[in-house]
Amino acid sequence: MIHAPILAPSLLAGDHAHLAASAATVAELGLKWLHIDIMDGNFVPNLTFGPETVTALRRHGNTLFFDTHLMLARPDRYVEAFAHAGADLISIHIEPDYDHAATLARIRALGCQAGIVINPDTPANAIKHLLATVDLVLVMTVQPGFGGQPFRTDLLQKLTQLAMWRAEQNLSFRIEVDGGIDLQTGAKCRTAGADTFVAGTSFFKAADKAAYAASFALL
Ligand code: DX5
Ligand code: ZN
Repeated sequence: MIHAPILAPSLLAGDHAHLAASAATVAELGLKWLHIDIMDGNFVPNLTFGPETVTALRRHGNTLFFDTHLMLARPDRYVEAFAHAGADLISIHIEPDYDHAATLARIRALGCQAGIVINPDTPANAIKHLLATVDLVLVMTVQPGFGGQPFRTDLLQKLTQLAMWRAEQNLSFRIEVDGGIDLQTGAKCRTAGADTFVAGTSFFKAADKAAYAASFALL
């Protein structure tokens, strides 16, 4: 199963005093996805947005697909809030201790797509048992918490492994990469099996965003 490439700009690198305008920039380019990073200052050493922010972005008429990445110690306590706020996809990390399978099932029961996220130092095996129950696997290619970090090339083999399991089990989940993604690292990830590309710094710093987005579509 080879999915067409999707570029998901990360709002983390947008203007935090004008988030609706940053989201509108993405929509105006004809892109479909917006990556929204939710951090709790506990699972990761940084803070960002809450469900109220997601609700407000929706209220501002944004029709983008909200790819919501929960970096929370207890994501199971917040999936309803983000679903009701307008998330389309809710991705939860494997590392914290809670009932991952039940939470993924709840996300789907709420009418959202469900994703599982895996940190750079967590082996792919940790999520193997959940692959049949997700719409997307998000492979962190930096330690989560901050934008602007360099891509970790050693994570490419994790993408290859996941793509292999997906083929073996005849599954169709997307494989998303997040952290240090630009056209060069994105191309390497595409070759290794990724189809969905989060880009924060590289997208919002691009002088010609339309050309940048067009190049991604060709990966
Ligand atoms: C980091 C976040 C990323 C971040 C990526 O914890 O999950 O989504 O926005 O930023 P860049 O693309 O700058 O590495
Ligand atoms: Zn993210």
